[in-house]
Amino acid sequence: MPSDAYFNHILHLSILERTEMEKLDEKKPSDFLQSLVSAHVASDGAMTVEDLIGQSLLILFAAFDTTSTTLQFCFVLLALHPDIQERVYREIIDVCGDVNEGEDTESRAPSHEQLQHLHYMQQVIDETLRLFPPALFLSRLTNKTTSVDLISDHTERFQADSEISDPQEDKHHIEVGSNNAIGGEFLFSKSQVQSAEASKCERSKVPAGRTITIPAGASILIPVAKIHRDPRYYEDPENFDPDRFLPENRARRQPFAFLPFGLGPRQCIGMRMAYLEIKTALVYVLRKVRLEVNEFTEPPAGGKVALRETNVLVVEKPIKLAVKLR
Ligand code: HEM
Repeated sequence: MPSDAYFNHILHLSILERTEMEKLDEKKPSDFLQSLVSAHVASDGAMTVEDLIGQSLLILFAAFDTTSTTLQFCFVLLALHPDIQERVYREIIDVCGDVNEGEDTESRAPSHEQLQHLHYMQQVIDETLRLFPPALFLSRLTNKTTSVDLISDHTERFQADSEISDPQEDKHHIEVGSNNAIGGEFLFSKSQVQSAEASKCERSKVPAGRTITIPAGASILIPVAKIHRDPRYYEDPENFDPDRFLPENRARRQPFAFLPFGLGPRQCIGMRMAYLEIKTALVYVLRKVRLEVNEFTEPPAGGKVALRETNVLVVEKPIKLAVKLR
């Protein structure tokens, strides 16, 4: 069964079951799906089953894909940097304790409080999210016309239509270079067009220091991955260095230079849960095994992970790691 049909099917079944529970007013679960079903029943059909499925799928992908991707990059970076992995391991043992031989790892589940004290691990996760943010860019729809002063360093990356017609009539579209979010540039097109068409639009270079006007109704993509590797905010940006996230270094940096979970009222609602999940997984895995590179691993220890030049976060080639029991 294709994956979309599969998810559609299981969600349909769950929604039917939960709707029965809702009607019978049985002791119902207090989770996200039941809240949606309650809203669906109360809306008297205004909120459709398709709406519910859409919202449920959003949670599945927004929550699980992002978190597992971050965990995968964490594993790779720790294998490539054994000294950093050893520090993370030492911290786990200090804060959460070790598992004795023959002891069930479940009985040594880290507590919520212990997870809060894994400060170095938090730095490692943040540095992983800086280099490999699962959401390469954020999107916003402007509700008022705004002027932005171009910073000189960025000038060559901005390309814009030379004339902008009446902002109220014509919806504009700004986006990161349509086939490469990592090395992307902004595109500013005269009409509301899809990315493929946007790349064909006539462009002109915007001179340094010029102010551009972003009209109301414009769709904007903010290049998170690009900002995360901007040398103005991060010295030697390609280098994996968790100390960038020491409290004193973080305080010195411009706060908008780190946006893996977005910012503002639409910031990720699962951020805290994501950190808890990733930390818990790292405790379980690293307490048991050591992640290593071997002759099949590309890049070699200390090397840089090559990404494919697309708008989704994907490595150039699959990366193989060795796993050794501690
Ligand atoms: C490492 C893990 C995660 C990353 C990197 C991540 C990243 C993001 C980003 C960048 C956004 C858009 C924010 C914006 O536009 O300002 C977002 C939105 C969202 N995230 Fe996450 N997320 C993660 C984990 C989770 C988890 C665990 C959940 C749920 C339990 C979740 C649920 C959502 C939802 C529902 C939204 C939409 C919020 C809205 O539009 O109001 N995410 N996430």
